[in-house]
Amino acid sequence: MTLKPLVIDKLVAKIPVIQGGMGIGVSLANLAGAVAREGGIGILSTAQIGYQEEMFEKSPLRANMDAIKKQFDKAKEIAKGGVVGFNIMAATFQYERYVKRCVEVGADVIICGAGLPVNLPELVEGSKTKIAPIVSSNKAAKVLLGLWKKRYNKTADFVVVEGPKAGGHLGFKADSMDESIENMDNELKEIIATVNAFGEEFNRTIPVIFAGGVYTRSDIDYYLSLGCSGVQMATRFVVTEECDAPESYKQSYIDAKEGDIGIIKSPVGMPGRAIKNQFTERIKHETIPIEKCRNCLSYKHCDRKTIPYCISQTLLNAVTKEPNHALVFAGSNAYRIKEKTTVRKIFEELTQAN
Ligand SMILES: Cc1cc2nc3c(=O)[nH]c(=O)nc-3n(C[C@H](O)[C@H](O)[C@H](O)COP(=O)(O)O)c2cc1C
Repeated sequence: MTLKPLVIDKLVAKIPVIQGGMGIGVSLANLAGAVAREGGIGILSTAQIGYQEEMFEKSPLRANMDAIKKQFDKAKEIAKGGVVGFNIMAATFQYERYVKRCVEVGADVIICGAGLPVNLPELVEGSKTKIAPIVSSNKAAKVLLGLWKKRYNKTADFVVVEGPKAGGHLGFKADSMDESIENMDNELKEIIATVNAFGEEFNRTIPVIFAGGVYTRSDIDYYLSLGCSGVQMATRFVVTEECDAPESYKQSYIDAKEGDIGIIKSPVGMPGRAIKNQFTERIKHETIPIEKCRNCLSYKHCDRKTIPYCISQTLLNAVTKEPNHALVFAGSNAYRIKEKTTVRKIFEELTQAN
């Protein structure tokens, strides 16, 4: 069977695959543009998106605002008419400014995770930008969509459900990860029922997209059979020619074995999935002083005085210095990647009819 396009209101992606946002510096214009060109949805991560800008050290916020436009325009050029959007963490310091800037530059979609984006509908009001929250539980889906309905009489354009096999920050408890993996299909079915109920109330279809551990075409077919309209994949796109991360970062994926991917404690207060290395060993028993605060997270999500290490610094180090001494986020399937490929080859494989 051929894959059906992903239809989000009037926005259409030929292939129902969204490339998950990867910060810092992993999903920028080259990767997002290439994915969009192949018919998927390419997503730029706004997390310190301007780290390569000259003014970044002096004024990270300004550098990030500038880079949002530069990276988006470049991705759109590469995409040749394809769909490009942003991933913004709701926990970002001055989150509202990031959302407004992404709308201003013409984002096709905005996907918000790492916290519940309670005022997102208000921030995109009057624009063509489609919005999606990332949720990991039915409870979160109900609370957020209920709130959007009550406050704004609006609903999501689509919903991304992120399961516990994903890379990066996870919306699950670290000590019950295996249980969460076992329960995820049931949770997903409940979320789909909740989202469909909101869809009926608003007389529209709200696509549900599953993320976390999706690797092959049969994985995609499986989630479509559960009632999803598409999938979000991130890890699979890291070791491609187009991915914006440096070679050393990609090499750490190639070198990783199954037992090398594990759960870490992030100062954001959520667990994260990453490649075990010298840095992840160090943070088990050491507090790493903050070299410089770049105000990446809101005060509610980062207590500058008590955090064990700076999340921004260590994610930046992973793309600017030696990844082995930094935090390399990766999904549970990263060990399956054995060699570098291209975005086109991945799409050729995923779109081959079973
Ligand atoms: C290196 C890396 C960085 C990530 N950074 C972010 C991020 O900044 N914000 C976010 O919402 N999700 C982030 N994620 C999660 C992905 O967007 C995606 O939902 C998830 O990894 C999907 O699972 P998969 O990697 O198994 O395909 C990241 C994932 C990886 C692997």
